Amino acid sequence: MKVPDEDVQEQAREFASNVRPTWSESLNPIEKALQYAADSEQFKRGLLRFVDVLPALSSPARITQAFREYFDDEAVQGWGQTVRNAIQYSPSSVSGRLLRQGVKRTARRFLAGFDRPSLLNELQSIADRGDRFSVDRVGEAVLSEGASDRYVDEYDALLDDLSGFDADTASISLKPTALCARFHPRAPQTTIERMYPRACRIIEQAVEQHLIVYFDMETDRTRGITFELVKRLLQDFSDYERFGVVIQAYHRSCTRDTNELIDWLEQHNRRLFVRLVKGAYWDEERARALRNNWPVPVYERKGKTDQMFERLAGQLVQAHPHVRPAFASHNLRSLAYGVTCAKQADLPDRDWEIQMLYGMGNRIQRAVRESGFHPRLYVPYGELLPGMGYLVRRLLENTANQSFLQDDIDRQTYDKPDPESGHVERPEPNGYQTVGPADFSRTKTRSRQQQAYDDRRDRRVECPVLVGDERRTGETDTSINPSRGSEVVGTVHQATEIDVRDALRKSPERWGEVDERAGMLRGIGNALEADRKELTALISYENGKNWPEADADVMEAIDFCYYYADQIERIGGERNRDVPGETNRHVYCPRGPTAVIAPWNFPLAILTGMTSAALAAGNPALVKPSGETSVIAYEFIKRARRFVPDDALHYLPGPGSTVGSALVEAPEINVVAFTGSRAVGQSIRRTVRDKNETMMTETVLEMGGKNAIIVGPSADIDEAVEGIVESAFGYQGQKCSACSRVIVHESRADELAERLRGATQALIMGPADDPDADMGPVIARSEQQRLRDAKQYAREEGEVILDQTTPGELPDGHYVGPMIVDKLAPDSQTMQTELFGPILGLTRVESIEEALSVANNVQYALTGGLYSRMPSVIEQAKEQMEVGNLYVNRDITGAVVGRQPFGGFKQSGRGTKAGGPDYLKNFLYPKTLTENITRKGYPGEA
Ligand code: FDA
Repeated sequence: MKVPDEDVQEQAREFASNVRPTWSESLNPIEKALQYAADSEQFKRGLLRFVDVLPALSSPARITQAFREYFDDEAVQGWGQTVRNAIQYSPSSVSGRLLRQGVKRTARRFLAGFDRPSLLNELQSIADRGDRFSVDRVGEAVLSEGASDRYVDEYDALLDDLSGFDADTASISLKPTALCARFHPRAPQTTIERMYPRACRIIEQAVEQHLIVYFDMETDRTRGITFELVKRLLQDFSDYERFGVVIQAYHRSCTRDTNELIDWLEQHNRRLFVRLVKGAYWDEERARALRNNWPVPVYERKGKTDQMFERLAGQLVQAHPHVRPAFASHNLRSLAYGVTCAKQADLPDRDWEIQMLYGMGNRIQRAVRESGFHPRLYVPYGELLPGMGYLVRRLLENTANQSFLQDDIDRQTYDKPDPESGHVERPEPNGYQTVGPADFSRTKTRSRQQQAYDDRRDRRVECPVLVGDERRTGETDTSINPSRGSEVVGTVHQATEIDVRDALRKSPERWGEVDERAGMLRGIGNALEADRKELTALISYENGKNWPEADADVMEAIDFCYYYADQIERIGGERNRDVPGETNRHVYCPRGPTAVIAPWNFPLAILTGMTSAALAAGNPALVKPSGETSVIAYEFIKRARRFVPDDALHYLPGPGSTVGSALVEAPEINVVAFTGSRAVGQSIRRTVRDKNETMMTETVLEMGGKNAIIVGPSADIDEAVEGIVESAFGYQGQKCSACSRVIVHESRADELAERLRGATQALIMGPADDPDADMGPVIARSEQQRLRDAKQYAREEGEVILDQTTPGELPDGHYVGPMIVDKLAPDSQTMQTELFGPILGLTRVESIEEALSVANNVQYALTGGLYSRMPSVIEQAKEQMEVGNLYVNRDITGAVVGRQPFGGFKQSGRGTKAGGPDYLKNFLYPKTLTENITRKGYPGEA
């Protein structure tokens, strides 16, 4: 639909002519701080972080301390004179109280009430002045079914309260992600099944009251499911005409989404309210995509978003009566465009509206009213602490330098948006870029992955021993699917000591030039990438990792190949330090035959990492995979041998006691790369120390951990719960980096324990190939038994807050339900022994010093985490926590090659860092070559 641009500009100018400054707003210190934040990125970061942490701080003195930590003397200027004086001249108890009041006041600007009674007063005033509203309950992140039930209960009560309002005045807005605890974009249908009953409960009551129910649009991950849910509701409530959805103009798929939606409505002859917005999650969407090496799903030019808003506004108006559009914006040009379209199309007044956010751009809201429109206000309410996410998003919008609200109304031209304007530069790539995880929220990615699972399901692989160019057979072992004990994944011929000797005899001392080796590694990486989905499926079948975990395993393997190719090119050449008359060369040489003894827990990634490092270095690799995952290893070796000479890469599956020992003891083996248990790692060290060798054997050992996450008083509990559950129960707690200890400050312990319990209970257990499964089986029947025994002593040592039984309908596999035990003594067996399974212990402490001391008081030093929003505490942990990898305010697993080089010290390893810049040096020895080129006093040329 096209409307004359003069009409749009005239409408925008009419709005603008009604905008008046208000003294109260311009004098408010919070307004001052917000204005200052728009100009200073550093101040803005401090402001948002301070506001974010503040409700979690219990005492005024702590608030003042946090303030001082976030704002240096210069930054305090940004708050204006009142706050400056308070901070400089008042005791911290007074200034802390003042700051809390200030932030509460700001929150009150955007949240209509902290509870329902205060909300209702505010709604009444809105209705009295002729505006309409849509109420949104803000709350804690919904991580448990209980929290989701509470969300629905709250709407039940809210709807009762709204019964006194006229049905055209009142409406509600729902967050789809709050309707179930496990929102899985990779399993849309089962997720919708979980959400549906709760959605219905709210809708049935709304139908009685004839209220509009809007489903908000959240992030890109949730988009598809939200549309599907609404379509299903439209079908099931076939004569209810008061559902609403949101279209986000900043999304690159907005045109497709809108076309599909309108087609569907036309086909089914249904009507829908459609709120058109630009989108509130721009920074988050962009950062997540860049981090994961995904295409950015949102436009990156502000002008483009503005242009799309206008295009879609026209399209939605034209789709009337199937669509009843709402133009939701504070941008006068955008609103004017929507209004002009609606007027030109002669839409009945009741069939379109302007929507605005409660508390945002109040001057603009007043101007819109004075121009004769009564907007529907989006009105959030809820307690301050859980409402922080909402508040921070609004502050971000208020201070974004590309926000209309920051523009000078008098200098606005209200021209047509220029799609090329408002570009934000992408950060320069910094070092190696990961290939990134698969994005299973994409339908195509999901269906291809499902196809790979279907194709691979009944395939049994026969894996011969590979010694040079020979395929040898012998005694066999069967590899089974831990999710379904009766399913065979492959038959593995077992290598013998003779095979080991022959492989060593065939192995050259070194192979390939640097360029050749780097090229071959990239070839292997490409081959893995080409078969990524198939390998992902195989990992689920043989090793019990669920979809995202299996995919991450393959991703890491591919990254290792590319990364080590880059690294060998970086360090593989000569370095010169010549002086007149003398040349000096520093070179790295292959150390020689390398034994790779790999674990089952990252069956492709770790095996590929150790093997590709050896190959990058020019060492032949003799690979002994774990017995549980020999088929995955075979699939890797088969692909790698398309690029690497047969004699440089041998596949020797078999028991550690024979094949493993023969490799470690062989005098020709110059490097042993091992990842596995501490006991085996230590025995390898002893064997190597005592063996009869020509060259001192290098050992690269990675041996587990007893990883802790500390939760401090200022932690964001939503984030901590999510991160701990992910770290402790992802892949059933069988990662070397898994969290098995939580050390929590007494003041947050009850809350944390309760929420951890709810969030863990919500985890879905199932066969690893089921896209909905959060937790699959543990690797073997023997592990299942061992973990049952470990649970028994954990029960005796602490207070069990959850010991989940496995659901009855699971197939015959090795499942172990998650367990959480609270109030454990730091030196208890549960808190000291590596359990390598879904058992999580909690210890309570009274200070950060005590937390650090408990965290460090174990034999291991692999990974660790901290949840805290106090900069000084974060610094203290960075300095004092004895771990190879420290993660602050995030989960502690999932190290990315190149970005988070992985490995620990103490009994966790020798300080080597897989996926780091120094790792290859463990497989090389350095040599210095000095030549005197002076002849009879003539220095010659270096
Ligand atoms: P303005 O014209 O200043 O636009 C700011 C917006 O432009 C940003 O929010 C972003 O979308 C976009 N932008 C900024 N920089 C950009 C860049 N470099 N490249 C591309 N685009 C850029 N949001 C949401 O996601 N889901 C929802 O359900 C709702 N619900 C809702 C209800 C109501 C009543 C309102 C008024 C708003 C929402 N929103 C929303 C929020 C909305 O998406 C939007 O963030 C704000 O309204 C700000 O946009 P304006 O048009 O008001 O301002």
